[in-house]
Amino acid sequence: MRIERARGTRDFLPAEMRKRREMEDLMRETAERWGYGEVRTPTFELAELFTLKSGEEVLKEMYEFRDKGGRHLALRPELTAPVVRMFVNELKMLPKPTKVYYFGNCFRYEEPQRARYREFWQFGAEIIGSDRPEAQAEIIALTSEILKSLGVSKEAELQVGQVGLLRGLLRGAGLEEGKINKVMRLLDKGKREEVAEVLSEAGEAGEKQELAGDLTHLTGLRGEEALKEARRIVLSESGSASGSASGSASGSALKELEELEELLRLLDFYEVRYTLNLGIARGLDYYTGMVFEIYEAGGRQGKLGAQSQICGGGSYQLAALFGGGEVASTGFAFGFDRLVEMFSPEKEGEDLRRSKVVVVPIRERTATVGGDRDGEVLKTAIKIASRLREFVPTYLDVMGRNVGAQMSYANSTAASFAVLVGREEVREGKVTLKNLETGEQESRSVRQAISLLSSSLSSPSRRNT
Ligand code: HAM
Repeated sequence: MRIERARGTRDFLPAEMRKRREMEDLMRETAERWGYGEVRTPTFELAELFTLKSGEEVLKEMYEFRDKGGRHLALRPELTAPVVRMFVNELKMLPKPTKVYYFGNCFRYEEPQRARYREFWQFGAEIIGSDRPEAQAEIIALTSEILKSLGVSKEAELQVGQVGLLRGLLRGAGLEEGKINKVMRLLDKGKREEVAEVLSEAGEAGEKQELAGDLTHLTGLRGEEALKEARRIVLSESGSASGSASGSASGSALKELEELEELLRLLDFYEVRYTLNLGIARGLDYYTGMVFEIYEAGGRQGKLGAQSQICGGGSYQLAALFGGGEVASTGFAFGFDRLVEMFSPEKEGEDLRRSKVVVVPIRERTATVGGDRDGEVLKTAIKIASRLREFVPTYLDVMGRNVGAQMSYANSTAASFAVLVGREEVREGKVTLKNLETGEQESRSVRQAISLLSSSLSSPSRRNT
């Protein structure tokens, strides 16, 4: 009976895994160079870790189940909540801020399509203990550095937004949290026109209609224009609300605006290119201030089609919810699988060809390990292979094949050298070294052969930024 993979999951063959590992290494290296330490959390968590903030609604989008002890568990749909839980449980005593990064699989019960899976990988980082503009700028600059290390920064577009500012304006207009979340979700889905309906449901049509108009306009603007308009709205709202109960809410919008301006200045210092887009609302409910998204350039025409968002992040407050007090944080997560689509390893095929050796024991009898003579041949072949394996991928026959079959296998694996070990060679302490690309062969001492191979087969090259 043929058993299919579960829907929305994938198998990764060796060539794909090599590419993924190379990328993972480059991303890890960058995070380490920036002073972040790697963490790992469990694949499944108590379901409430994810429902506490977003409500039972999110269960629909998760793999959740009861274990044999009746505990309600969920496969993690993302890693920010688990990392903050870990911080509250284990790391609270560390000096702040705590800077960590992670790489792990996530699970979401979504409709699978190109670049959207039910099991996918995220590479992310969090600064726990600061959401100041300096922390926000560093987090964004780190994403930009990671994209550079992968050689894909030119194909990526960064958009920066500020949900705190929008929330502050809505709060200033007297909207309660439930309604604010509803507006934010509409904005996240790009349904800007429907915002007016929610606001008019909230009553006092006149003033709220005006704010709805302002928000619809503002969230459609980009760059300097958006900043100017935000300034105008925030100043007029805080002016009209002064002295009222909502005055402080508008005041918070003003503070968010000032922080945003500070962040944009810092991004210039880092020489990070961005577009300001105050329409970004993010799908997750925990964001409190700055938010950002990175897209593959070219939109639907790119390699990723409709799923072109390769990274999401922002500032948030989660620790208090998990019993950790108020701890402001900032972070991001890359959709690793989407980056894989954009990344092309340098010298792809070439590395494969250059870096393999096949050690070929020439045996008299292939059905068994055989008598002493074949035993010596095998022992020598194993010794040589073990030595070679210290620096180059090396194959050794495990099928008891004759020389011809071993050589044709060597050719099919695109190895570049074969080391033939026969009885006579063993007696003389020599091997035959065959260059499979040119067909040339020569007799060499075992030591010579090994040092020749080690100097001509370097390990796969690393890309510079
Ligand atoms: P998110 O935007 O939900 O944010 O996910 C981050 C990235 O994961 C997305 O930009 C996307 O590239 C990728 N992704 C999401 N769902 C899928 C899927 N079904 N298949 C393939 N890739 C997917 C978060 O998860 C936040 N925890 C980010 C964060 C960290 N915010 C603060 N710190």
